[in-house]
Amino acid sequence: MNRNRIAMLMYRGHMTQLLEGKTGLVMGVANKRSIAWGIANAANKAGARLILTYQNERLGENVRDLAPQLTNPLLLPCDVSNDGEITTLMSRIGEEVGHLDFLIHALAYAPREALEGMYADTKREDFRIALDVSAYSLVAVSRAALPLMKDRQAGIVTLTYLGAERVIQNYNVMGVAKAALEASVRYLANDLGPHGVRVNAISAGPIKTLAASAVGGISGMIKLNAERAPLRKQVDLDEVGDAALFLISPLSRGISGEVIYVDSGYHILGV
Ligand SMILES: NC(=O)c1ccc[n+]([C@@H]2O[C@H](COP(=O)([O-])OP(=O)(O)OC[C@H]3O[C@@H](n4cnc5c(N)ncnc54)[C@H](O)[C@@H]3O)[C@@H](O)[C@H]2O)c1
Repeated sequence: MNRNRIAMLMYRGHMTQLLEGKTGLVMGVANKRSIAWGIANAANKAGARLILTYQNERLGENVRDLAPQLTNPLLLPCDVSNDGEITTLMSRIGEEVGHLDFLIHALAYAPREALEGMYADTKREDFRIALDVSAYSLVAVSRAALPLMKDRQAGIVTLTYLGAERVIQNYNVMGVAKAALEASVRYLANDLGPHGVRVNAISAGPIKTLAASAVGGISGMIKLNAERAPLRKQVDLDEVGDAALFLISPLSRGISGEVIYVDSGYHILGV
């Protein structure tokens, strides 16, 4: 075997070992188009053992269909609007594994009627639900996971969108929820940092997923992003998966409380 080939294999070997021996929780797989699924694949390839959660039994069926593509995953239910389910999830993980090295929070929800028309028309109950499921849930799962993650150089990653900082047509209350989520990332990073846990967010460009389809005009947003972004292309699941891999691996050990953009560079543009 020549030297170049050995170097290449060593390089590949190194890449696949990035999460060797680590166990992580991935929340938010609904189907194969889910960002959480892109991240699960990247983490699995890097050698991690995964625990996947599903919101309800209907989506659990999808997750069970996808699971054989991963190495020995553990599948558990968790609706994040229910504190009891979060507690049960963490104690199951405690019993089955005993610890967690990373946690991916890739979930959000707002009633469809709140994702079109004027933000000013947002109903109190729709605001409450969107903020509860999409922002408070990060606080709740981070707190519940802390005993499992403590002092392990662990990483938490959530998913956000440019609508947190700029007005995006129809994104409405979800933009406000993402602003709360990004602020939570900073407060949680400061709380959990002394316990050896980093907290970061990925701000992804628009990708056609189940959740994204609820936002009015998502196809137009994807097209516009691809036409105008510095990289002139759509964002895909692998790109988000690899950025998440970086954020849960030791390569990002000096980064916490940060929002990293995986959006083909779109957010740097002015008019
Ligand atoms: N798709 C995009 O364009 C885009 C861009 C930036 C950020 N994001 C964010 O990425 C994350 C993942 O969304 P996605 O686009 O992959 O869509 P998706 O529909 O595949 O995933 C959303 C997930 O949220 C879960 N969920 C909703 N309510 C829940 C609850 N009460 N309990 C537990 N789980 C619940 C759903 O079951 C689903 O698995 C979300 O936070 C979304 O806002 C998406």
